[in-house]
Amino acid sequence: MSADPKETRTTNAGWQERKQAAIARGQGNIAPVYIERGLNAELWDVEGKRYIDFGTGIAVCNTGHSNPRIVAAVKDQVERFSHTCVMVTPYDTAVRLAEQLNGLAPGDTPKKSIFVTTGAEAVENAVKIARAHTGRRGVIAFNGGFHGRTMLAMGLTGKITPYKNLFGPFPAEIYHAPFPIEYHGVSVKDSLKALHTLFKADIAPTDVAAIIVEPVQGEGGFYPAPDEFLQELRNVCDAHGIVMIADEIQTGFGRTGRFFAVEYAGIEPDLVTIAKGIAGGYPLAAVTGKAEIMDAPLPGGLGGTYAGSPLACAAALEVIEIIREEQLVARALQIGARFKSRLAALQERYPETIGHLRCERGAMIAMELVEGGDAARPAVDLTKDLVASASENGLVLLSCGINGNVIRFLPALTISDALIDEGLDILEGCIGRLLAA
Ligand SMILES: Cc1ncc(COP(=O)(O)O)c(C=O)c1O
Repeated sequence: MSADPKETRTTNAGWQERKQAAIARGQGNIAPVYIERGLNAELWDVEGKRYIDFGTGIAVCNTGHSNPRIVAAVKDQVERFSHTCVMVTPYDTAVRLAEQLNGLAPGDTPKKSIFVTTGAEAVENAVKIARAHTGRRGVIAFNGGFHGRTMLAMGLTGKITPYKNLFGPFPAEIYHAPFPIEYHGVSVKDSLKALHTLFKADIAPTDVAAIIVEPVQGEGGFYPAPDEFLQELRNVCDAHGIVMIADEIQTGFGRTGRFFAVEYAGIEPDLVTIAKGIAGGYPLAAVTGKAEIMDAPLPGGLGGTYAGSPLACAAALEVIEIIREEQLVARALQIGARFKSRLAALQERYPETIGHLRCERGAMIAMELVEGGDAARPAVDLTKDLVASASENGLVLLSCGINGNVIRFLPALTISDALIDEGLDILEGCIGRLLAA
C-alpha cells in the first residue's frame, strides 16, 4: 500500500484543512486544535503544545483525562469481552452499575435504571417511559433548555440556533414555558404564571405526560433553576399526575457540588437522565427513576445495540469509586469557590463587560459578557474572540448561552489549584488584551 502523502501534515492547520474536506460542516469544531494525548486536566496537541482544559469535552471527563484507574478498568474489560449486547446475554457490571445509580438517585422511593448510549437517547427514553406510565401525550420543556440533537430531543430544546434551524418539523405535543432567569428579568413567579397559562391555553395538565427541566441550564447559559422553582414544579407534577424528569446530563455526577443538582432543591424527581460524566469519556447514558414508573414499558421496548456497553459500564463503576474515594463532590465546591474569588476580582476590574457571574453550583461556573454593563446587550463577538484567544494561549474554554455570550468553566474535578490559577492567569491576560485592543 502506498503511503498517504497527506500523512506528512502534522500541524493543526493541516488536519483542520483535511477535516473541512472530509467531515461535513454541520459537525463544526470550536478550536482548530488536534489532540494527541491528555492527562488529568491537561491536553497536548499534534504540534506538542500544551493546554489547560477548562472544558473536559463538555462536562464529560470529570475524573480527568485518561485517569489511570479508568484506563485499567477498561483494559481489563476489553481483554475479557467488549460487546455481547445487554439485551441478549447481559453481564454483572451493568447490574452492579444500575444498583449504584438506583442508590445515588435523589429520594427514598425504590428505583430502577436502564442504559442507553447518548444523552439524547436518555431524554428520548425518559419521555417514552413517562408516556407509557401516564398514557398521556404532552411534554413541557423550557425556553433555553437543551436536551440533545435527535428529533424529539431537539423538539424539547428551547434554543433555535444552531440546533433547530433547517431540521423541522419536530414531534408534536411539545410545549415550552419561560425559564426563570432573574438577570434577564424573568422571575420564578413569571415562569410559573406562564406555565399555568399554558395549561389553560394550550394543553390541559391531565394531558401532560412529563415536565423536563435542567436543574442548571447548560447550553442555555448556565442558569441555575431557583430551588423554589423546582419545588413548585414538583408540586405541579404531584397535583396533576405528571412525571417530573430532571435532565442531569450536564449537571450530574458531582459536577455541581451535589451528586445530582436537584439535591439543592431537596426534591425527588420521578426520572433522572444521566450521561456525560457517568463514564469518564466512554459513551454511556442512563435513565434512573421510580421503579413503578420505569417498569411501565413492555420488555424489549427500551434499549439499543450498544446500550450499556461493557467497556463503559466498567469505566462508570470506577468513576463512582473515584468520586467517592477522592471526595470529588466536595472538591467541586472548592473549585467553584476558587473560581469565584478570581472571577469576582476580574468583574470588579471590568464591570461594564463581565455582566454576571454564576459560581453557586460547584464546578459548573459561568461568566456572562455584555456591552456597557447592560444584560440586554450580549457581547457575542468578544465571547468568540476570547474562546479563540484562550485556545491560542493554551487554554481550552467553552462558550454557551442562548445569545452565545457566556463563558462556561467545566474543569475536571481532579484539577489542581495550581492549574486552576494558571488557567485563570491565561484568561485574565486574554481579556485584558482584547479589551485594550
Ligand atoms: C442537559 C443536556 N441534555 C442532553 C444532552 C444531550 O447529550 P448527548 O450530546 O450525549 O446526546 C446534553 C448535551 O450537552 C445536555 O447538556
